[in-house]
Amino acid sequence: MTIKAVRGFNDILPDRSGVFRYVEDEACRVFTGYGFSEIRPPVVEKTELFLRSIGETTDIVEKEMYTFKDRRGESITLRPEGTAPVVRAYIEHGLYHRYRVARLFYMGPMFRYERPQKGRYRQFFQIGAEVLGDSSPGVDAEAIEMLLNLFERLGLKDVELQINSLGCEKCRPAYRERLLGFLEGLKDRLCENCKRRMNINPLRTLDCKNPSCIEATTDAPATLENLCSECSSHFEEVKRLLKRYGTAFTVNHRMVRGLDYYTKTTFEVLSKGLGAQNAIAAGGRYDNLVKTLGGPQTPCFGFAIGTERVVLLTEGNIPSPGPLVAFIGMGEEAEKRGLEIVRDLRNRGLRVVVYAGGSLKARMKHANRAGADFVVILGARELEEGAATLRHMESGREEPVPFEGLFEAIRGR
Ligand code: HAM
Repeated sequence: MTIKAVRGFNDILPDRSGVFRYVEDEACRVFTGYGFSEIRPPVVEKTELFLRSIGETTDIVEKEMYTFKDRRGESITLRPEGTAPVVRAYIEHGLYHRYRVARLFYMGPMFRYERPQKGRYRQFFQIGAEVLGDSSPGVDAEAIEMLLNLFERLGLKDVELQINSLGCEKCRPAYRERLLGFLEGLKDRLCENCKRRMNINPLRTLDCKNPSCIEATTDAPATLENLCSECSSHFEEVKRLLKRYGTAFTVNHRMVRGLDYYTKTTFEVLSKGLGAQNAIAAGGRYDNLVKTLGGPQTPCFGFAIGTERVVLLTEGNIPSPGPLVAFIGMGEEAEKRGLEIVRDLRNRGLRVVVYAGGSLKARMKHANRAGADFVVILGARELEEGAATLRHMESGREEPVPFEGLFEAIRGR
């Protein structure tokens, strides 16, 4: 029996890997332009890191983590997200000494044991960005603008930004009590999961996907109505700055996010071009996480993009990789001279594949099948004349081109 990949873990084949590369390269370019530098944390962390950061009553921690014991019996987890590892590295290496404000981005695979469907996988890629050490609302607005700028450059249409504020440790406790009071009255209509989580973390009920829970909590009090003056003015300022950027948004007072570390601003970017899994990026402020994990009080803001979902929307928008050139050298001498010519063309940015062995006719057939736009043929006659035969595959036209002029002749077409 042949061995297949593990369910929810995908191969990214050559016909799609180019779009992944393009999206990641564009992200790198755009983020670098905003002063961000890359960080590459490992894909495995101690399990405790995620328990303490994401929250013990979240879906991720309760049922989606790939947690194992290593050979010494230590519990380790394949990272379900990138923020906690970045914060762990920030504290471990004392990056707060080095950078007054650290602007970091990362990209790579994340792992969650979810039910696979279109746009949802067990290994999926994220591109994330985190600003550590700045509490100003300007950071929230600029990071969101950076993200939307990237989406615009990728040619994404019909994206919607939704924002909310979850308050802080000052206003959250009173809100929690209010929400709990509300939930007590309709406990019977909640699912078992919500009933169980309600007293530990009532906010989670607002994130439940169960239709009866959604209906029951329609009129639940909103965090926005219960913000303290600091959170309220922070939120007003974020909205004002977004408007100044010309960024359209809607306020979604029910958005509580699936991770517990958020404070103040949270947001999601949704796309109409996808099915049920329509969130293409999400994030927010997390002013207490660094402290929770043992570092100094450090206000932070960040987001992560679901790379596969953005790749689906970017396909078709990427620039062509340039012409594909096939090189055919007939005979020992021509193949030898060809090495220099081919290397020069490649160094100048052309894609060149060498077809060696077999008859000219057979090699031409292979080149044609591979989709070559041009074939450069070098035989005894061409060597003698110092000019290769350049065949334009689409028109079938052939012309002699001096070796030094090949690049220009191909580019000129
Ligand atoms: P998240 O909302 O859990 O946030 O994930 C961010 C994005 O990752 C989602 O909007 C979605 O596009 C993508 N995603 C999540 N799960 C899957 C999956 N199973 N398959 C495919 N794509 C998926 C975070 O992870 C936070 N760390 C974001 C953040 C950074 N907050 C602050 N800084």
